[in-house]
Amino acid sequence: MIIGLEAIAFDVPRFFISMTELAHARQVDPEKFTVGIGQREMAVPTPCEDSVVLAGQAGLTLLKEHNIDPASIALLIVGSETGVDHSKPISSYVHKILGLSHACRSFEVKHACYGAMAGITMAVNYLLSGRAKGRKALVIATDIARYGKETLGEPTQGAGAVALLISDCPRLIAFDTQHEGFYAKHVMDFWRPLYSKEPYVNGQYSIQCYLQALEGAYSLYKQSALGSGRDLFNQRFHACLYHAPFVKMTQKAHIKLLEIDQQTIFEKDSPLLEAAKQDFKKRVAPYLELNARVGNIYTGSLFLSLINYLEDFKPEAINRPLSLFSYGSGCGAEFMSAALLSSAQEWRNRHSFRKQLAQREQISIPDYEKCLEACGRMDLIDQSVCDPSLWNLDRPLVYLGNKEHKRIYSLEGVVINDTR
Ligand code: HMG
Repeated sequence: MIIGLEAIAFDVPRFFISMTELAHARQVDPEKFTVGIGQREMAVPTPCEDSVVLAGQAGLTLLKEHNIDPASIALLIVGSETGVDHSKPISSYVHKILGLSHACRSFEVKHACYGAMAGITMAVNYLLSGRAKGRKALVIATDIARYGKETLGEPTQGAGAVALLISDCPRLIAFDTQHEGFYAKHVMDFWRPLYSKEPYVNGQYSIQCYLQALEGAYSLYKQSALGSGRDLFNQRFHACLYHAPFVKMTQKAHIKLLEIDQQTIFEKDSPLLEAAKQDFKKRVAPYLELNARVGNIYTGSLFLSLINYLEDFKPEAINRPLSLFSYGSGCGAEFMSAALLSSAQEWRNRHSFRKQLAQREQISIPDYEKCLEACGRMDLIDQSVCDPSLWNLDRPLVYLGNKEHKRIYSLEGVVINDTR
């Protein structure tokens, strides 16, 4: 049985800022953000765009654009570390927004940025078991990455959601379901205690943890696919996609991948390092524009790169394998591979993430700071900020704050209620 990705869609907040403007406001050399970190723009959510809204809209777009019958979905998994409730999962709001059937399992998975990938592996195993009987799985990654004003992590914020339809009639990529590589270790590189809106992060250490997890997961994958030994296994992938908390991280990851295969550390200014950077330009960098223009969306970041890839792949890539690496702080990671299907060409003729991004509006740094401050207050103190007209926000699905401790959403002007 072939299991893979049948359709994909994403949603981002309506507003964004320029990283150059942010650098000026923080009195930092703009090249630190645009070259050193690798980001061009950053998505800015208003209080009316929470993780449910982003997930719901990505799901709605997917169902509509691909003409998918909601009744065909047997499993909904939402991966997120931006929960809206200690008990009720984001998936239960999304289930209602999408009009899914009651005969559809629905739950939320949390493992920092690894949540959606964990959901995908669960979905694949469910489909492989044969119990889905032709029905499909919808996995949605949704997050708001927030470190706060004037923190080291500030240029690595972002927000967005990616919806992935997984089925036994894939049209985009087919997963390698024979081999797998995963890694887990208890580390305190990045975490967000219950009482805090912002994570605690040890930035440089988190980069080391990411690279260590890549080594663990990739080595296991390689061993399962090939057996151990010295070889250039990575060369079989015509594209390598990585979790991208910021674009520059993927270059560090790719260099690490090549070092693992060549069993050596590439010294500064060495020909090996130069060759690795050239290889990065060929197999990784062409698929990072969407990440550079949205920022970190935590568990969906890897899949933004996948969307970019599905629109920009070269024709010779058809039927060839690509690799996907997911890392979630804490930590958990997965290395997997998939093959590009020829039907992906039809999909890309109908999609353009660049057109979707062109519908966003750039805002000033003071306006971004107002959004950041208001998002910090909502839920806890002040419900009045959850008013779309305050932000000139025009989108079909919005969060309107809570009433009697229940979150209220509106879709096309109709308030979403429970069914009592
Ligand atoms: P920092 O310490 O301010 O930055 O924070 P830096 O001093 O390391 O500089 C960054 C890069 O810019 C360096 O390049 C500098 O050389 C360069 P590198 O040596 O790394 O190649 N640079 C310049 N380049 C050009 N012109 C200049 C200039 N100045 C400096 N003038 C850090 C950086 C990423 C640590 C910070 O933003 C942070 O803490 N971010 C959040 C944590 C994070 O993203 N970690 C990534 C790995 S963990 C992960 O991916 C999981 C995560 O997504 C969460 C989850 O799983 O849920 C975060």
